Amino acid sequence: MQTQIKISVLTDNHAGSFFPAEHGLSYLIEYDGKKILFDTGQSDMFLRNAEKLNAGLDNTDMTVLSHGHFDHGNGLAFLPGGKLVCHPGCFVRRFRGQDGTYIGLGMTEEEISSKFDLKTSADPLQISGKIIFLGAIPRITDFESRKTTFRFEDGTADFVEDDSALAVILPEGLFIISGCGHSGIVNTCEYARKITGISKLHGIMGGFHLKTTATPTRETIKYLSETGAKHVFPSHCTELPALAAFYEAFAIRQIKTGDVLVF
Ligand SMILES: [Fe+2]
Repeated sequence: MQTQIKISVLTDNHAGSFFPAEHGLSYLIEYDGKKILFDTGQSDMFLRNAEKLNAGLDNTDMTVLSHGHFDHGNGLAFLPGGKLVCHPGCFVRRFRGQDGTYIGLGMTEEEISSKFDLKTSADPLQISGKIIFLGAIPRITDFESRKTTFRFEDGTADFVEDDSALAVILPEGLFIISGCGHSGIVNTCEYARKITGISKLHGIMGGFHLKTTATPTRETIKYLSETGAKHVFPSHCTELPALAAFYEAFAIRQIKTGDVLVF
């Protein structure tokens, strides 16, 4: 029985020694007999880095899209097809409030569903006995996802309600894999705990969407410290001041493209 999880970092904002980087996220997750591509970045970089890593994406069981932003899903254009799991709200047209830049997916829902075997779910979806796609994540904390800089086409606020994550049940406890953390990292962990009934949190990895050292970052560090999480790997959209605060609080390494984590 496979008890260790293997995560290959195909796309991230930070470049490894021999691997290029871009603003985006893509991980290859191998656990519980499954090979899951979690997000695709914004270009074909994930494929090129997978090739360099000899990671072979040909036999992946499925692709999971964390949410409908270009930097997580535009790489879908470079996949031949296969199973795709995501929240039904991923396909909406959405923009950056500040300058009106389009930041939704490059492919429409019709294009995606004609190419992929698409399964959308706002409810938790069991991918294997030990891997769960969380679906819509309830926003319960008072310090996360209360503000947004994103807008829909009609100008109303976009809180990226389609933002989801994976909960993986390791022998040591839960391990959470987040795309961008728009739902809030604490909200995500709390929901994973609730639906699995497992309170022990072993770790978390991915985009935390924390930019500064203000309250959301401080409260997230406090929460993760209290849970006793052993592996805390903020990456992608976690910006420098927040990253530095996490590095100070936890004995962790910086995530870069080409990294392969096994634990
Ligand atoms: Fe992102």
